[in-house]
Amino acid sequence: TGMFTYDEGYTSTASCESKITYIDGAAGKLMYRGYDISYMAKEKSFLDTAYLLLNGELPTKEESKEFRIEMNKRAFVHEGIRKLYDSFPDRAHPMAILSAGVSALSTIYFNHLEINTPEEYREMANRIVAKVPTLAAMSYRYSNGMPIIYPDLDKTFTENFLYMMRAYPHKHVDLKPIEVKALDTIFTLHADHEQNASTTAVRNLASTMAHPYAAISAGIGALWGRSHGGANESVIRQLEMIGTVDKVDEFIARAKDKNDPFRLMGFGHRVYKNFDPRATILKDIRDKLMDELGISSELVAVANKIEHIALNDEYFVSRGLYPNIDFYSGLILRALKIPKEMFAVIFVIGRTPGWIAQWSELRQQKTIKIARPRQLYTGKTERTPN
Ligand code: CMC
Repeated sequence: TGMFTYDEGYTSTASCESKITYIDGAAGKLMYRGYDISYMAKEKSFLDTAYLLLNGELPTKEESKEFRIEMNKRAFVHEGIRKLYDSFPDRAHPMAILSAGVSALSTIYFNHLEINTPEEYREMANRIVAKVPTLAAMSYRYSNGMPIIYPDLDKTFTENFLYMMRAYPHKHVDLKPIEVKALDTIFTLHADHEQNASTTAVRNLASTMAHPYAAISAGIGALWGRSHGGANESVIRQLEMIGTVDKVDEFIARAKDKNDPFRLMGFGHRVYKNFDPRATILKDIRDKLMDELGISSELVAVANKIEHIALNDEYFVSRGLYPNIDFYSGLILRALKIPKEMFAVIFVIGRTPGWIAQWSELRQQKTIKIARPRQLYTGKTERTPN
């Protein structure tokens, strides 16, 4: 192609140097700052994960406690944002409301765009990580015409989010530890995934020196698409469409038929070709959760049958098609009584520390090159005007 290489969808172009997340697709390996994802999911909380991504090191016991307190203190949002939310119509999509809310934060903080000292970076990062769950729960509440619930400072990060989703004024909510752990693990597993589409969007904005919260809002926009953050919602929709165990064979046959565009949602991955390490962890959590909550729906039976067939079928095995993170996260969120339209919002809460860590990494480089890819022009050659 002469001057530059053509790489549609950037499948073979590294767009940056980064010290945050490492993926080895062939080995099914994912690490945050050098720590394996299964260690993080099993031994650490989402807040520890966020701290690690933002600061480069795991927190000590004392730092972990301080970070929790800091998150609680910063969880409230400016009352003006409530008024903004009042103006959105009923049933507005929570992703649209959330993106507007995050964007609105840029009207309140750092109007001048100057973030220079380590303290300013930390304050900017902590504030957004702390406020996104509140804005997310508010988005759900407003979308459904329910009274909003303010953060409860006595609760942990994930417990508090579930509480703001479920509670009613003056009514006790029962949050089981297994439910909190399941959601906390989902957040942890989503916290970063190197240069995926939404993170690339965030970095592109960072490269123009745009406001960090405007960059996060752009990340939310990118994540909304069904090829990205919307995939787990598609998994549940597909399981509902299949409906009963006796229909599974018919749909497996359709997935294998080259003349049928039907694909099994929640199977396959661009990077992981042996297994998705996040899926392995979630499968375990899903089984424990279903057991403890005593859930045994037809949908779970359908999912189990699909999984069993696909893991043993030549078509799927030979193409390296294994269940991915979305195959399990949808069923977990459903068991937590979180509605489908909130699935991508849950992803946003998990991904926010990753986005901000990537934004900060880029902005703290000595020199910053604006993201400015070229193109292959395929339009008309010069025409003579007449
Ligand atoms: N069902 C049936 N066949 C499939 C599927 C599937 N889900 N996925 C891939 N294939 C087949 C595909 O037809 C092709 O077959 P052949 O070689 O005979 O032509 C082969 O497998 C390779 O597929 P590909 O589309 O070239 O692979 P890709 O790396 O471009 O796509 C993918 C990856 C995730 C887009 C794709 O597997 C897919 O559409 N999966 C279903 C949607 C889904 O679950 N998405 C969530 C991904 S995880 C999200 C995240 O990490 O954020």
